[in-house]
Amino acid sequence: MTGAKLAELKYLVGQRIADGDTGDPPQVLPYPQVLPEQYARRIEELGALRYGAVGVAREDYAGRERVRVRNWDCFGAPVALFCYLNEQMLPPQWLDAGMFLQTVMLLLRKEGLDSCAQIAWGRYHRSVTEIAEPPPGYVLGCGMSIGYADPDEPRPAIPRAELAEVVTFRS
Ligand SMILES: Cc1cc2nc3c(=O)[nH]c(=O)nc-3n(C[C@H](O)[C@H](O)[C@H](O)COP(=O)(O)O)c2cc1C
Repeated sequence: MTGAKLAELKYLVGQRIADGDTGDPPQVLPYPQVLPEQYARRIEELGALRYGAVGVAREDYAGRERVRVRNWDCFGAPVALFCYLNEQMLPPQWLDAGMFLQTVMLLLRKEGLDSCAQIAWGRYHRSVTEIAEPPPGYVLGCGMSIGYADPDEPRPAIPRAELAEVVTFRS
């Protein structure tokens, strides 16, 4: 999605946010209600790094929201991708979609472009669907902003988990 269509979507969601609308009833929960401890810890560390890089403290809810809101402006990017899945599909097919999106992101890098996968679009999925007009029976899986990274934007290095934490070798 690009041009007038994307401008319309950004405007529509921007208006909803300005009106205090916190989102649509979720079609897909972004996370389990109770996140296992090791993942909750990683999310917390990621948040501290991302928000800390732009000078927003952990307890500054309004500040964090100001940063988060940039998701729905695609961080200023001029192109967005919305990945819909047939609603009958099960976790293995969602895995297919993830692999597809990763391939798209790698091919974008090859062209010198940058991208950011965005589960955040799910929060306003009705507006996305109003503008994107997918066929009936499809559910928004993930959005993605596409453009050129701003070299002046603070980009904290996101640490990777230790290999031994995520891989078990058996021989
Ligand atoms: C499925 C998926 C959904 C994501 N959703 C969002 C999002 O809604 N907003 C956002 O800013 N980043 C989102 N991210 C990007 C992550 O924040 C990003 O991958 C992480 O910061 C690590 O960045 P790096 O791989 O460049 O180090 C998402 C990533 C994935 C894989």
